[in-house]
Amino acid sequence: MGLLVACPLQFGSEGDDVTERPARIVVLVSGSGTNLQALLDAAQDPGWGGQIAAVGSDRDGIEGLVRAQRHGVPTFIEKVNQYADRSDWDLALTKTVASHDPDVIVLAGFMKLVGDRFLRAFPNRVVNTHPALCPAFPGTTGPADALDYGVKVTGATLFVVDEGVDTGPIIAQVVVPVDDDDTVETLHERIKLAERQMLVDNIGRMSREGIRVAGRRVSFSR
Ligand code: GAR
Repeated sequence: MGLLVACPLQFGSEGDDVTERPARIVVLVSGSGTNLQALLDAAQDPGWGGQIAAVGSDRDGIEGLVRAQRHGVPTFIEKVNQYADRSDWDLALTKTVASHDPDVIVLAGFMKLVGDRFLRAFPNRVVNTHPALCPAFPGTTGPADALDYGVKVTGATLFVVDEGVDTGPIIAQVVVPVDDDDTVETLHERIKLAERQMLVDNIGRMSREGIRVAGRRVSFSR
């Protein structure tokens, strides 16, 4: 049970003229970053409700970081092998992300599981996008697993991250057909088209309204 305080976040004391600011969004990526790009583009519109405050990765040399830099967004890298163990990495990642004062943290193709400390630091503020219809096909090979299973529809899921692998409360899902001649690549590309729109629509709405999490049920706060 939990509540993400409604955004847009407001400055000032009671009685002041209230100035609303866009929600601060930190995005974590591990690869090409096309989902990140969709968020960067959406954030150009002040009415969308969020700004991309920083982009982080667990590896260097990836297109996702270049995309952020092209937009003048600060970037950081926290590699697991820079630290003695996974829990030290989790603490370092937590501190670095916290230094950007995020309202929402989006895992957009971030191929590491964040740890307990990270989730405790940002309760109900960490969301992940997964290229399958959860709870089906969790993990890093969702499109391939859906194809192997022979499903006729699959899709993408945006969810609040919990301790499990792609098990958290679901914010939004989008359905995508599987074609007879699909390969993993063609299917994943079709999923990603729908996934990017799902992400833009729902992260924008979260930024403007906030979400309420009650058990497994997620609703927007307004
Ligand atoms: C996306 O489809 C995302 O859902 C997936 O990686 C892709 C990243 O694409 N994430 C996972 O599979 C996590 N389990 P992008 O780098 O082009 O945004």
